[in-house]
Amino acid sequence: MTLPRLALILTAALTAGCLRLRPASTAVVERTPARIERGAYLANGIGGCLHCHSSPEENSFGFPPRPGTAGAGGLCWDPSLGFPGTLCATNLTADVETGLGGWTDGEILRAIREGVGRHDTGLFPIMPYRAYASFSDEDAMAIVAYLRTLPPVRNAVPARQINFPVSLFIRRAPRPLEGPVAEPNRADPIAYGRYLGKSCEHCHSPVNGRGQLIAGREFSGGQELKLPGGSRVVSSNLTPHATGLASWTPDQFIARFHGYRAAAEHPVAVQKGQNTLMPWLPLSTLTENDLGALYAYLRTLPALDNRVIAFPAAPEAKTEH
Ligand code: HEC
Ligand code: HEC
Repeated sequence: MTLPRLALILTAALTAGCLRLRPASTAVVERTPARIERGAYLANGIGGCLHCHSSPEENSFGFPPRPGTAGAGGLCWDPSLGFPGTLCATNLTADVETGLGGWTDGEILRAIREGVGRHDTGLFPIMPYRAYASFSDEDAMAIVAYLRTLPPVRNAVPARQINFPVSLFIRRAPRPLEGPVAEPNRADPIAYGRYLGKSCEHCHSPVNGRGQLIAGREFSGGQELKLPGGSRVVSSNLTPHATGLASWTPDQFIARFHGYRAAAEHPVAVQKGQNTLMPWLPLSTLTENDLGALYAYLRTLPALDNRVIAFPAAPEAKTEH
């Protein structure tokens, strides 16, 4: 459903040359209450993990998971979305046969930040592992600790089938981490906002004809994303330009996200052509502090001129609900 930016993936894979991966670490993640709490916050919020790894209600605003499916997988991409094959978000619950129950902690850590599956397969980059590569070691372990607490749900999703030659490129796409990833300085709003903002950049930046992010245009929006049913939604300009967020106050920014908390609790019907891939529902769970940090960071970006029509099929539509 979201962003099969194939050209980007293909170019990245081609320049990567050969399959570069390293064995999963033998790390064992200690499941402390603090870690589980932090992991729950990240996996249900900025990471959007359980939201994408679910079977969503397509006619409700923001694609909320159907009851009981959050984390259990089921969302699929297929040729009707321009995808070269079939790919489904997998089951992350503790079920041994259909979920992560049989995986080691090291294997899960490697999948999240390096894009390598259990059997050394390259994961398709719809799974945003390139963004998650910037998660600190501690935050990545927190997510694993939390995933281990998800009650097992038996749900086998259809096997991945990717057509040649994309299948070949995907095998070569993973990127190993270069070393330990330190904790961000959470006391510094701009530094922490930059850290959190890694999860926004891949959607909110324009891409060139080959699908690569255009250097110097980061966060200026304009990337077109395809939704089921054939409609499109275009990502907004988040830079402090008049065509972006220049006029937004920090309070307005925070309130916009928190305004979707109700829709996350109780799904809201949406008109055809006006649903959005902006992860409003998971992001509505972010704290005032973290949204404030994101805002502070976005204010430091160069103001880039790019007027975006987010809903080309309904130019006046806004996702205010
Ligand atoms: C936009 C949707 C999306 C988001 C958001 C997302 N994933 Fe994924 N994830 C996928 C898809 C699709 C796959 C399957 C990729 C493949 O098989 O090539 C996947 C694969 C995985 C795998 C490998 C599982 C397996 O059985 O092979 C793990 C582990 C995983 N994701 C964890 C996470 C975590 C943790 C997060 C949040 C930090 C996350 N994902 C966020 C879509 C997503
Ligand atoms: C999967 C792609 C995707 C991701 C990830 C994403 N966004 Fe968006 N975002 C969109 C799209 C598409 C729109 C336009 C449609 C809409 O408003 O719902 C949008 C709209 C917005 C808007 C509304 C702007 C306006 O002018 O009304 C804000 C603010 C925003 N995003 C902030 C963020 C932040 C902050 C993050 C990261 C924490 C983020 N987005 C992550 C796709 C994404």
